Amino acid sequence: MAVQRIDKILSATGRFSRREASQMAKQGAVTVDGVCCRDSSKKIDPETQVLAVRGERVGWAEHVYLMMNKPLGVLSATKDRDQKTVLDLLPAEYRARGVFPVGRLDKDTSGLLLLTDDGDFAHRLTSPKHRVDKVYLAQTDGTPGPKAVEAFAAGLTLRDGTVCLPAKLEILGENQVRVTVQEGQYHQVRRMLAACGTPVKTLMRQREGELSLDPCLKPGDWRALTESEILRFC
Ligand code: URA
Repeated sequence: MAVQRIDKILSATGRFSRREASQMAKQGAVTVDGVCCRDSSKKIDPETQVLAVRGERVGWAEHVYLMMNKPLGVLSATKDRDQKTVLDLLPAEYRARGVFPVGRLDKDTSGLLLLTDDGDFAHRLTSPKHRVDKVYLAQTDGTPGPKAVEAFAAGLTLRDGTVCLPAKLEILGENQVRVTVQEGQYHQVRRMLAACGTPVKTLMRQREGELSLDPCLKPGDWRALTESEILRFC
């Protein structure tokens, strides 16, 4: 592996920003092969040299796994000529590493969005074959009735004739529902609820598989997944 700047290696873990890496080095918290290194711009070989922060070894992560609370009005894409994308909310090195959003949330949908540079991980989450639950909270115009709950469970037919996999519709209150689907067709939840005569007013993804949106993340915030969170999908 080519030599890399210490701040780049540390920020690629998703645990520190480059600025934090620089501050930690200045404070004497960073060591290379056991020797304190106060200059985070120094280049080292992460495969042959031991980098540590406060005594804890930090490796060059092969892949990056992030969780974001996607804000409204931002595209889940890697780049766009005119509009802001979720990659614009991350440090530049993630774009250079090839990080991309796992599946799509509409521009007007908020909530849990995973990002990675690991294609296999993304495939396991998005392929309908793997049956990973995606859970959404929606405010609707009107409240769906028991027939809609049954239609979701049976496999709803959309207005264009598309037949959906069986899904779960829970009525949480007046104009409020929770929808669980195992696929991610274009505008799927919006189209499913529209097909029942209760169009979506707001939509937010709360969970994918066993992974719920971290309540500490404000819209636009992100953090690295922990090892145990990553392993839930591997
Ligand atoms: N279904 C939708 O309609 N929109 C999303 O963003 C996600 C699921």
